[in-house]
Amino acid sequence: MSDDAMKNMENKIEQAAGAVRHVLKTTPDVLLVLGSGLGTLAGQVESPQILPYDEIPGFPRATVPGHAGRLVMGRWSGRQVAVMQGRFHYYEGHPMHDVVLPVRVMQHLGVPRLLLTNAAGGVNQVFRPGDLMLIKDHIGLLAESPLRGANLDRIGPRFPDQSHVYDPDWQQLALRCAAGLDIALHRGVYCWCRGPQFETPAEIRALAALGADAVGMSTVPEAIAAVHGGMKVLGLSCITNMAAGILDQPLTHEEVMQVGAQAADKTIRLLSEILSRTDS
Ligand code: HPA
Repeated sequence: MSDDAMKNMENKIEQAAGAVRHVLKTTPDVLLVLGSGLGTLAGQVESPQILPYDEIPGFPRATVPGHAGRLVMGRWSGRQVAVMQGRFHYYEGHPMHDVVLPVRVMQHLGVPRLLLTNAAGGVNQVFRPGDLMLIKDHIGLLAESPLRGANLDRIGPRFPDQSHVYDPDWQQLALRCAAGLDIALHRGVYCWCRGPQFETPAEIRALAALGADAVGMSTVPEAIAAVHGGMKVLGLSCITNMAAGILDQPLTHEEVMQVGAQAADKTIRLLSEILSRTDS
């Protein structure tokens, strides 16, 4: 990013933040991003203020079926939340700084926490479709960084530490919440692949050897940008299918959506408990 491009980016963040601030009553405690098949979770928000992405200047359009494309703001479990019903993926063709624009906008507005959900393929063979996995760390080195180009010095350092992308205390809280609700929650490493094609069996064997437990096409850019700007991050994957080559069956987006929807109830119970016990 040139200096001009950086200035443009800063203006873009400010303009989008202005549109969001216009409808916000209170600064959200948490930005919650809903993954494929989990869009209905936005229905949990009480007295929602709804802002379609096309009313936010500079926001790209969400093009993927199952990603509604709007920001839903209000209360959930006693917390003030902004829920992204639909996220931007790199595979849709968006530049990386647009993929993370919502995170930048919420940072600008002073939102301290980011809770990322996604649909993912299970690489760890102990997992089953419908299981939930708390992300303990990620592998993001297979794709471009959202921090490439001139650094937004006002937001964070040029070379940000990534030792604890997913906040250790928040993870412990999530594990306690799951145990209290008797919901099985795996903990593992999420690997980001660019997509949109699903991986090949050989790629999945390679990722397993690298230490991946689950694979998906989102989350990592948002987490990197969030930590860069000092937000606390939590990541929750819904394992919607076993990754390529593990079962002898083709992978489809329909299956991802369907299994995500089936796991929605338990995901809602877990997220509600986590939100109610998260510091505001
Ligand atoms: N691979 C990549 N992304 C995914 C998968 C998968 O198997 N399942 C859901 N999102």
